[in-house]
Amino acid sequence: MSRLREHEPLQGYNTFGLAATARYFAHADSVATLRAILASPQAQAGPLLILGGGSNLLLTADFPGLVIKIDLQGIEKTAETDHHVWVRAGAGENWHQFVMHCLDQNWAGLENLSLIPGTVGAAPMQNIGAYGVELKDTFTELEAVEIATGDLQRFDREACQFGYRESIFKHWAKGRFVITSVTFKLDKQATLHTHYGAITDTLKAMQVAEPTIRTVSQAVIHIRQSKLPDPAKLGNAGSFFKNPEIPTPQFEQLQAQHPGLPGYPGQAPGFTKVAAGWLIEQCGWRGKRVGNTGAHRDQALVLVNYGGATGQEIWALAQAIQQSVRERFGIELRAEVNVV
Ligand code: FAD
Ligand code: EPU
Repeated sequence: MSRLREHEPLQGYNTFGLAATARYFAHADSVATLRAILASPQAQAGPLLILGGGSNLLLTADFPGLVIKIDLQGIEKTAETDHHVWVRAGAGENWHQFVMHCLDQNWAGLENLSLIPGTVGAAPMQNIGAYGVELKDTFTELEAVEIATGDLQRFDREACQFGYRESIFKHWAKGRFVITSVTFKLDKQATLHTHYGAITDTLKAMQVAEPTIRTVSQAVIHIRQSKLPDPAKLGNAGSFFKNPEIPTPQFEQLQAQHPGLPGYPGQAPGFTKVAAGWLIEQCGWRGKRVGNTGAHRDQALVLVNYGGATGQEIWALAQAIQQSVRERFGIELRAEVNVV
């Protein structure tokens, strides 16, 4: 087992760039190493934090227990037919590099999920999604080590109960498993998803007449770079809140008062998903700076660290935003980011 480090700075391990420390810290680059770490007295004493790329994490304090950084690598084709390929990736693989690898092989299905930060292993946690595609659309199964026993277990798509930014790993399975690999079923003949957001217009502007998975990926990358801040330059964790889903009659009533309110079909029948960024902007937060934190000027749903902010300050800003949206619209915003 690699040695446990003590009092490890976490600033380089979270995309908010927050300066917290971990009491203990270890890298797991194989299932065997992971099991050995989990059997250590420090792991047994708890608490544990499983860390991928730290791109959906708000550290509000120093972490008093053991942080396990997931570094399991490897991408392999596990099966193939005339039309499909099954690909398994280690949980520590960088998500975007994995998507680029699949594009290089001409395997279709993940192109709309280009440039999402983080690791493969964290992707099922919240069923990552963008531009009309979610992880669940190509996911077949994952392997995870049960923390209490060290047993390797398999979860298929049904078992994961994916929803909008949801899975069992945010509910009953939270804190009980470490995801070690994820398998995807990808297509050899692409079905392109170009109707969401600005993809079609961007392809036109790129003068692409016949889109491919490569050009769709490039369009998605272009759109993302134009509105989402790069964490390497400005600390952030993407959308801080989920887009709330409210009963459609409530949405219709609100839209009558606020004709600009964007709404999309919700996951459950009778529910409409409303744009949290719009609600936050209407409350006057877009581009507003509070100390070293703020809501981004191009995307109010993205909270940022201008440098030197603490997790507590970002959490206080998030709560102030929640309160104003509650008071103005009667809607409860829920954090997408994992608050630790
Ligand atoms: P981390 O932040 O390290 O961890 C997230 C959670 O998963 C934590 O609770 C952690 O304990 C747990 N976890 C991590 N790895 C494992 C594992 N192997 N086993 C068990 N639990 C684990 N998300 C989207 O869905 N769509 C987007 O379009 C999108 N855009 C983003 C844009 C920016 C600029 C940023 C900064 C973030 C964006 N995100 C988006 C959020 C983020 O990229 C995803 O949630 C990503 O999957 C997080 O991966 P990570 O490895 O960084 O996870
Ligand atoms: N809007 C505003 N003001 C703002 C921000 C947005 O009015 O400050 C409006 C936009 O004009 C648009 C609507 O809100 O009408 C939706 O905005 P956008 O297309 O930017 O998408 P989003 O709903 O804010 C979601 C995801 C993103 C994902 C994009 C593209 C959530 C919580 N966020 O953002 O995911 O990349 O769609 O699919 O579902 C993430 O999860 O971290 C993330 C970045």
